[in-house]
Amino acid sequence: MSEIKKTDTAAVPAQATDSPGPLLKVTGLTKHFPITKGLLRRQAGAVKAVDGIDFDVRRGETLGVVGESGCGKSTMGRLITRLLEPTGGTVEFEGKDITHLGVAGMRPMRRDIQMIFQDPYGSLNPRHTVGTIVSAPFKLQGVEPEGGLKAEVQRLLSLVGLNPEHYNRYPHEFSGGQRQRIGIARALALKPKLVVADEPVSALDVSIQAQVVNLLDDLQQELGLTYVIIAHDLSVIRHVSDRIAVMYLGKIVELADNKSLYGAPMHPYTTALMSAVPVPDPRRRGAKSGRILLKGDVPSPISPPSGCRFHTRCWKATQICTTQEPPLLALKTGHEVACHHPENAPDQAPGDQPLPGAADAVVTVSE
Ligand SMILES: Nc1ncnc2c1ncn2[C@@H]1O[C@H](COP(=O)(O)OP(=O)(O)O)[C@@H](O)[C@H]1O
Ligand code: SF4
Ligand SMILES: [Mg+2]
Repeated sequence: MSEIKKTDTAAVPAQATDSPGPLLKVTGLTKHFPITKGLLRRQAGAVKAVDGIDFDVRRGETLGVVGESGCGKSTMGRLITRLLEPTGGTVEFEGKDITHLGVAGMRPMRRDIQMIFQDPYGSLNPRHTVGTIVSAPFKLQGVEPEGGLKAEVQRLLSLVGLNPEHYNRYPHEFSGGQRQRIGIARALALKPKLVVADEPVSALDVSIQAQVVNLLDDLQQELGLTYVIIAHDLSVIRHVSDRIAVMYLGKIVELADNKSLYGAPMHPYTTALMSAVPVPDPRRRGAKSGRILLKGDVPSPISPPSGCRFHTRCWKATQICTTQEPPLLALKTGHEVACHHPENAPDQAPGDQPLPGAADAVVTVSE
């Protein structure tokens, strides 16, 4: 993925100037999936998949969202595209509250907000031809493209690098990377303003991943799109994100512009995610890199740890971390973090008693 570079946040496409304010604004967003018990389906608890998050998506930018599996990234994506009904909080699109819009109310918004899914095969109907799949959004919205439907679908196929002559083929006749391109063509059919891509390349061979990420990047420049790209791995989004939100157990724990996050990460979880990224440069193998490996899995979102949710896995944890949830604060311009003892920033709770055994929470390996 080395050939993609995007650190110049000033280069925002034309759509950026349409109107003031962010394209999407999320406040206190929450999704609790109820757990029911017995014949009466009494509610016995809830999976706190997304548990109060705030962020904006600016016009023309790419916001990367990362975190281990189970942190609530997909749920967040489905909430902001309104495929799921939030339990609490608000979602505003172009200043309009869309939090509880029903199917009918969302119909006009469906043109503007589109989603690309992880599994390019599962999300394409195997019995439909590519032509039918890519033309579906036009039919659903009752839109007749200029020059006719077939010509428009063929134009979209070439836009995403597919042969327009393959209009009548079925999904199984394509490779994984090509199928993801079909998914992208379908998502872009109606010229959306916001595209939420949930792990768009995770199911693809590593050799194909860069091509698809590059395609998304090119299309963004060309069409002035705004992206939210979800990944479990920092390496995938590093070069395409203007800003990055790091999620842990239903919360955003760090939100910063690309340069700040990679240059001076503040949250211990982010540091751990970064050191888990293998170093691709063979010359650096064998050099002492001091990688931090987190032990164990993400705890259950049914009963998340008290205080800072990361305290059960954090090597810097002190007493306060077990009782007080650290608020997400801007400790530097454009760099927010939720931690009592951040890296690369002043300690927010100096002198607090270390938690016994906290230092053993991670394995440090030097390669
Ligand atoms: N429909 C659902 N019902 C109950 N729990 C769910 C549902 N969807 C997701 N979850 C749970 O919510 C948590 C977050 O899941 P998800 O948003 O898929 O995380 P990620 O995409 O980061 O892996 C997980 O514990 C998952 O099991
Ligand atoms: S608040 Fe405490 S437990 Fe949480 S990340 Fe910071 S140091 Fe670790
Ligand atoms: Mg997911």
